[in-house]
Amino acid sequence: MENHQTIIVLDFGGQYNQLIARRVRDLGVYTELLPYSTPIQKIKEINPIGIILTGGPNSVFSTNALVLDSEILNLGIPMLGICYGAQLLAHLSGGNVSTAKTKEYGKVDISYKNCKLFDSIEKQNVCWMSHTDYVSSIASGYEILASTKDCPIAAYGNNNTGIFGVQFHPEVVHTVDGIKMLKNFLYKICNANGDWTISSFVKNMVEGLKAKIGDKKVLCAMSGGVDSAVAATLLHKAVGNQLTCVFVDHGLLRKYEADQVMKVFAEDLKMNLIKIDAADRFLSKLAGVFEPEKKRKIIGSEFIRVFEEFAKGIGKVDFLVQGTIYPDVVESGFGNAALIKSHHNVGGLPSVIDFKEIIEPLRDLFKDEVRKVGFELGLDESIVMRQPFPGPGLAIRIIGDITKEKLDILRDADFIMREEIALNNLNKEIWQYFAVYTNLRSVGVMGDMRTYDNAIALRAVTSIDAMTADFARIPYPVLAKISNRIVNEVSGVNRVLYDITSKPPATIELE
Ligand code: XMP
Repeated sequence: MENHQTIIVLDFGGQYNQLIARRVRDLGVYTELLPYSTPIQKIKEINPIGIILTGGPNSVFSTNALVLDSEILNLGIPMLGICYGAQLLAHLSGGNVSTAKTKEYGKVDISYKNCKLFDSIEKQNVCWMSHTDYVSSIASGYEILASTKDCPIAAYGNNNTGIFGVQFHPEVVHTVDGIKMLKNFLYKICNANGDWTISSFVKNMVEGLKAKIGDKKVLCAMSGGVDSAVAATLLHKAVGNQLTCVFVDHGLLRKYEADQVMKVFAEDLKMNLIKIDAADRFLSKLAGVFEPEKKRKIIGSEFIRVFEEFAKGIGKVDFLVQGTIYPDVVESGFGNAALIKSHHNVGGLPSVIDFKEIIEPLRDLFKDEVRKVGFELGLDESIVMRQPFPGPGLAIRIIGDITKEKLDILRDADFIMREEIALNNLNKEIWQYFAVYTNLRSVGVMGDMRTYDNAIALRAVTSIDAMTADFARIPYPVLAKISNRIVNEVSGVNRVLYDITSKPPATIELE
């Protein structure tokens, strides 16, 4: 299915690695971000048109240096080393790296020389530096191509082999012509043909899926979230009703959510979508459970059980579709973070279904690319631009135990919040926004009478990847309107709080 040209980005742990990969994609070339330790054999199999070595926090002469087999220099593939990557390429090819006499951080004046990498670029320019070590000498065959006041070898390279190193960061916007340099690397050095576009991706994927699946049966678990919705729509476009989608309603969804999913996918798109109403099962299993992780485990395993019962009924399927996206692949491949919350989606499913192969049509894409694919397939903005919604749903937005009454109060309050945020056009700039049932009662006064009712908390955060987040600066008049509507329209609520903590130290969800 993958017949496009590829650039491999080898990851040495720098902070801009994903950004480099994105920049290259935005320039029309498909990229794969792989760990620096990827075996040469695997690189040869992928047969990339070029390799980019990223920056990283290490030093090439320290004992814990992340190194590469110098054979990589002999593959005949153009390479661009950035920061640590540049130092490593210099070191591998016989040059020297040492501690810089003056460290450079931030914007620095630089002069470039004529070469393929700096073609059509203003030669007296500004770049962005962040380094402690630098390349102090280069091997024969290489030429010095740029310098700054404190970094005599700010870039070097060889126009014939197409191997270049830059000490600065072309991927960040502060390097004035950085994008042009990356473009030169791709198109003038690697001879890219720019075959990566969202529409070519969709076309190739649909054709590839058709050929692969033939007349066989495909099953997809839909959550209503963006990724599974886009994956299912791609499959539907490729094989129509050979695809069966299953949507488990665990009773922990937002107001009107299940109906909307059924309307869009079953009614409008005419997908073969089956909804399983399992709310009572989930709620009875969750009754009296207070502990967040325990809730997650119960929901995860009940989800699998519901699916298993369904799967038994339909017998063997040939393919199972999963909406895995690139950050999921990267996280599970490289991640070694402490367990804060056991996130789950449908990861446990394969073991309970009798199937031949998993299809993950979006595994190479970042979230915003998945959204573009969704638009390309004609999906509505209300589906494609949805905010992330956790698998355990409202269960982790009710602090403590869950009851139907609490869920109803929360759904109504949450609906009002979402409505007001959308009415005020804040929905695109806020990463996630939702109401929380705090399980806290407090005294109020309504119509001269004492009340002793629920406090609802509002949570709204800005974020790029949910790893860190800040509370959204929602204008006071909007907060006032939300608060006013909630206490007036949702019975049982007499107080509204706004959560103003960032992540860390808090997390996005309260449980
Ligand atoms: P936290 O609360 O950990 O959330 O800051 C980060 C992102 O993950 C989502 N989240 C979950 N997603 N299952 C999921 O599928 C979970 O158990 C879960 N817990 C948190 C959360 O909505 C946010 O986008």
